[in-house]
Amino acid sequence: MIEQEKIQEINRQTDIVALISQYVTLRKVGKNYRALCPFHAEKNPSFYVNPDKRIFYCFGCKKGGSAINFLMEYEKLDFPDAVRRLAKNLGIEIDTTKGLKYKDIYDVNEFACQFYSSTLTRAIGKRGQNYIRERNIDVNRVREFRLGYAPTSGGLVTFMRQKGIAIDKLHRAGLVSQNHEIFRDRLIFPIFNLSGRVIGFGGRGIDDYIQPKYLNSPETPLFKKGGVLYGLYQAKESMRKKAEAILVEGYFDLLSLFQSGIMNVCAPLGTSLTEKQSMLISRFAKRVNILFDGDLSGIKAALRSIGLLIDAQVDVYVTSLPKGLDPDTFINQRGAAELNDLLGSASDFFHFYRKSVKTDSMEQEIALIKDLIQIVGNIQDPIKYDRYLKYISHVFDIPLERIEKAMVQKKDVQTPTPKRPLSTEEKLMAMILNASEHFHHAKDILSPEDFGQENIVRLYKKLLKDEKFDVYELSNGVDERLREKLFAVVIKEEPVPEQAYLESVMRFKNRVVEKRIRQKITEARKNGDEKALANYQKELNDLKRKMLNIKSH
Ligand code: GTP
Ligand code: MN
Repeated sequence: MIEQEKIQEINRQTDIVALISQYVTLRKVGKNYRALCPFHAEKNPSFYVNPDKRIFYCFGCKKGGSAINFLMEYEKLDFPDAVRRLAKNLGIEIDTTKGLKYKDIYDVNEFACQFYSSTLTRAIGKRGQNYIRERNIDVNRVREFRLGYAPTSGGLVTFMRQKGIAIDKLHRAGLVSQNHEIFRDRLIFPIFNLSGRVIGFGGRGIDDYIQPKYLNSPETPLFKKGGVLYGLYQAKESMRKKAEAILVEGYFDLLSLFQSGIMNVCAPLGTSLTEKQSMLISRFAKRVNILFDGDLSGIKAALRSIGLLIDAQVDVYVTSLPKGLDPDTFINQRGAAELNDLLGSASDFFHFYRKSVKTDSMEQEIALIKDLIQIVGNIQDPIKYDRYLKYISHVFDIPLERIEKAMVQKKDVQTPTPKRPLSTEEKLMAMILNASEHFHHAKDILSPEDFGQENIVRLYKKLLKDEKFDVYELSNGVDERLREKLFAVVIKEEPVPEQAYLESVMRFKNRVVEKRIRQKITEARKNGDEKALANYQKELNDLKRKMLNIKSH
């Protein structure tokens, strides 16, 4: 693990406003900065950054945290990678191999990648080289995507043994199954995560008759097919710049587009697009252009993907290829310029849907309309939603109210259950964290045992110990409901007058004391201890008088 102190130092030194400004346009309001939230669709800004406390928080989607959390969320990095990125910006040295959760699988994958790619350059990789030539892939693409070749005779196990890596690690990485190397006589496509680490492999059989044509590594703790997009690591900068992603189906489609200078491309790993993958794309692009095969299965796959992408709040366009061609064959036969023209003539999802879904019968037409209503119902941007609604109404000649009624019925089902309100001590703790300048009062009056909830006791003890009002650190591990509240209160920084602070603390303390006395009274009564009983009664009365005093202030 990266040391805690290093992490804190990195957090302290990072200018969170400058960092977040690289991704969203911040405007200063009072002490805070405000923006449209990058993590959910909204009309009015509810995303805040507080430079003094070095935190961000969105009142809309409740995401919040430090600069590290922002990078993790926005760039889809894991914790150590986000820390590393910030450290690099600051010129702070940290060990880059420590702290990876599945370090051994990463290592095995990296070595395997080196083995396959070096094999491709040697005599034993002749078949791979020929195949790459046949498929018109040039050396720059081979390098950029670290393509490789798995020999017919294997050799990975021997290679690893020389590196001192035990075979069970190859099993864990999914490269060996029952003492068999799973990739043989295949062109190898390493699959990268967003930090450029190899997490798995895809392999294309060199001979067309080999079954299956493509083989992927099995799922491992690092490699979840539904959560990864091939090429995204190489494509993400271009996607962000163009605010558009082109979605293709195959590895070779992607390489051919890259080779033609179109670099905002990614591909699922041979399965249909998942919800996770569409969310992932939406992090980098506002618009997706689906470029699937021009055959029926390509159209069907496009139709399936549209709904998911709309749910992820991106604009969806579809480019239709001539029947029988995929993007790779299209480029090889007709060239990149023609593909560019075609991409420019993409239809929006609505027109593509109408064009593609055959409506020979009333029943089919109704099904089509219902599908479209359902898709449009998930658009959160109110203007877009309105446009499409009117459009459906116009095109299919259905009154607007009818369509909205059909939607409302759907939407009602999803209203979230209201959250449990905060307890008195949770509210008090939020105030204490917010108004650090009055903490000496709390310190004088309250001891940890005065609190009843274990998480609050822990939090207060920590606060007493080092008096660090770092809401991000302190809220670590408390439940989500409370964490949201703490962030919300702290980032608003509404001033708490000293008198009000003192009163809240006193009132809370008195209630605690009252409870204790009442317990003792019950006990004294049970034991028949008249003298003690009288004492406690008096104590209680004094306390009540004191409490009245506070209230009348
Ligand atoms: P080439 O024939 O090499 O040009 O591949 P392609 O991309 O044109 O093939 P196809 O359209 O059949 O497949 C598109 C993508 O689906 C491929 O790039 C693979 O990711 C995946 N795929 C195709 N066939 C298989 C298979 O048999 N098994 C698995 N797991 N994936 C496959
Ligand atoms: Mn192809």
